[in-house]
Amino acid sequence: MKEKVNQIKEVAKENISKIKDLQELQELKVKLLGKKSELTSLLKGLGGLSAEERPKIGSLVNEVRSEIEENLAKAEKKLKEKALAEKLEKEKIDITLPSVKTKRGSKHPINRVIEEIQDLFVSMGYDVIEGPELETDEFCFERLNLPAGHPARDMQDSFYITEEYLLRTQTSSVQARTMLANEEKSPIRMICTGKTYRREDDATHSHQFNQVEGLVIDKKELNVSLADLKGTLEVFVKKMIGANSELRFRPSYFPFTEPSYEVDVTCFKCGGKGCPLCKKTGWIEVLGAGMVHPNVLKMNGYDPEKYSGFAFGTGIDRLAMFKYGITDMRYLYTNDVRFLSQFDRKDEE
Ligand code: PHE
Repeated sequence: MKEKVNQIKEVAKENISKIKDLQELQELKVKLLGKKSELTSLLKGLGGLSAEERPKIGSLVNEVRSEIEENLAKAEKKLKEKALAEKLEKEKIDITLPSVKTKRGSKHPINRVIEEIQDLFVSMGYDVIEGPELETDEFCFERLNLPAGHPARDMQDSFYITEEYLLRTQTSSVQARTMLANEEKSPIRMICTGKTYRREDDATHSHQFNQVEGLVIDKKELNVSLADLKGTLEVFVKKMIGANSELRFRPSYFPFTEPSYEVDVTCFKCGGKGCPLCKKTGWIEVLGAGMVHPNVLKMNGYDPEKYSGFAFGTGIDRLAMFKYGITDMRYLYTNDVRFLSQFDRKDEE
């Protein structure tokens, strides 16, 4: 009997050492310790033994049983550890590998230029003002000294929505809005950037474009003068187009300024020598500007006896074209990724 128990023990040990996975372990457990196992039937047969032998064999069987249990538990622990180690190995992540680069968008060249202009003027103490793109005839024309029927209205073929409303043809409309909104009629130093619309569509004009408007008004005794306008535009142009750019003021006409000027800069391509871009003149027209017309001051609540000022306006798209050497304005509006990705944020990283 004793040998039988020992034999069971040895066989069990041997079998346990051969287990390969948890499934096998479960099966072996049933076989060794379950209701139908040899050990269980031995225990059941204890009754047939002598009173002397019964406790001895009984305790031997129990000993063997707990030894088998212990071995099984050890084997289970080992198998679980092995399974975990395998899993970890399989799921290992190499954190030293470079990550996959995500594609980032780029800032649109027009927005770059707008931000640059805003930064510059804010640094000179200007406010940045916004105005509506859907504008009234009153603010776009009338309050800028262009009454109905004024021939200058023909200069700008407009998108009228109704008799009264149109898409603004110029950011100058914000000049009138700013003056009128300023109830204390205190000095103004503002720029406004934004979209403008005209009925045009060719390589150098788009039906939608962007302008920046500048307006400075101060008390007469401070004498805001043409010299101030010139100095301001010089800073502006040199910053935006190039430190070597020179400015030339040509007398011109705008209904809302008097005197009025068109401002040319030396051609950024040939440096003023003359090339096809500047039509061999060495100059490129970039800005409209002038001293605010007394009528405009008056119409918008500023007494021309007490106040004077200057205004200027220019196309941001054209500035962007000069700055980045873009030959067709339509590139700015067709959102071709091949074009846009050239303006990625390398310099901002
Ligand atoms: N608004 C004018 C234009 O669109 C430019 C301008 C602005 C001229 C301010 C003078 C003063 O051409």
